[in-house]
Amino acid sequence: METIKWEDEHIFQEVDSIIEKYWEEKSPLLCVLQEISLRWHYLPRPLMQHVAEKLDVPSSKVYGVATFYSFLETEPIGQHVVRVCESAPCHVRGAMDVLSTLKRELGIKEGETTRDGKFTLEVTSCLGVCGVAPAMMIDQVTYGNLTPERIREVLTLYN
Ligand code: FES
Repeated sequence: METIKWEDEHIFQEVDSIIEKYWEEKSPLLCVLQEISLRWHYLPRPLMQHVAEKLDVPSSKVYGVATFYSFLETEPIGQHVVRVCESAPCHVRGAMDVLSTLKRELGIKEGETTRDGKFTLEVTSCLGVCGVAPAMMIDQVTYGNLTPERIREVLTLYN
């Protein structure tokens, strides 16, 4: 995971050029936040504050937008996001075992990111593949019929 050095003025200059790009837009805030999120993989608070000042909008508005959209993250996330479905059909077919296997294999709890910045573990509701419960999703790929062995196999694909 890239370590951000806040004393480096280039970061803010980079944000300024992102803002400039969307300056003419009717409501540039979401586009600016999306691009910052793509660049740094989340929305660091100092950058949200900077955006608020530059766009002359209250920082509460920037934070409100940042937390409203699920595709925007306000905390650092790993290179791969693992989402375990915990809705009822997956729950009755062993979602909790899936979660505990992942916690053990990755050495983190839900909501956490591995030390090397590779994986973030989250729980989510139905992924739309209940027929192959229990299921999880890594980035945009869905995996079903999970067993501890299958989970270990899948994780090796990302190492
Ligand atoms: S309940 Fe888990 S995929 Fe639908």
